[in-house]
Amino acid sequence: MRVGSRLQYLDALGIDTWVPRAARKAVPGQARSAPAAAPSPDWLPLQAEVSGCVKCGLAATRTRTVFGVGNPHADWLVIGEAPGAEEDRQGRPFVGAAGKLLDAMLQAIGLSREENVFVANMLKCRPPGNRDPKPEEVAACLPYLMRQIAAIKPKLILAVGRIAAQNLLATDVPLGRLRGRVHRFGPLSTALIVTYHPAYLLRSPAEKRKAWEDLKFARDFFRNTFASGS
Ligand code: URA
Repeated sequence: MRVGSRLQYLDALGIDTWVPRAARKAVPGQARSAPAAAPSPDWLPLQAEVSGCVKCGLAATRTRTVFGVGNPHADWLVIGEAPGAEEDRQGRPFVGAAGKLLDAMLQAIGLSREENVFVANMLKCRPPGNRDPKPEEVAACLPYLMRQIAAIKPKLILAVGRIAAQNLLATDVPLGRLRGRVHRFGPLSTALIVTYHPAYLLRSPAEKRKAWEDLKFARDFFRNTFASGS
């Protein structure tokens, strides 16, 4: 992504930044950025299974399931909490104001759901009134997410918000104390980094600077670990 556009997105985040002359070049591209390859063979059956799921009570109140969107071979997997009202109507994750901010956050580090990210949630169905997911709902839905992770094989998971971070890491440590380090998740020991949920950032704009620190931490970890030659 060009520095000019990145600055635009940082502006949308409400973050002033200083860019050294040496850094005025494109953010090194993330590998596997073109969504050209076909999804893994499990992908479409999994999608069909999710759309007909009745494993928990949310099946009765949802309009649509929200499987996730993006590149099914993405190196980055963003995991949020659960669909809200608009996501439930459209069947796509993060479509409201929080989604716009999420996209701006991703663009600021050279990522987009059209290219090199897959975006999903802990839950595929909306909890009524946007209440927190219940443990039994998370337990019922987690196998779908695990199968998505097994199919995508992301190099890095970005857990946005307390619900995703605490459930994925099976902890009740506050989100603020989970930030700033690389956790490991699942059978492939996938790297997992935690940041704030964009809906929280909309309510607490003063925290956007910390989210920007998290994004840079994730970007630098990715570059240093995976991006050969950049
Ligand atoms: N918040 C989430 O966590 N996920 C969505 O899809 C929308 C809002």
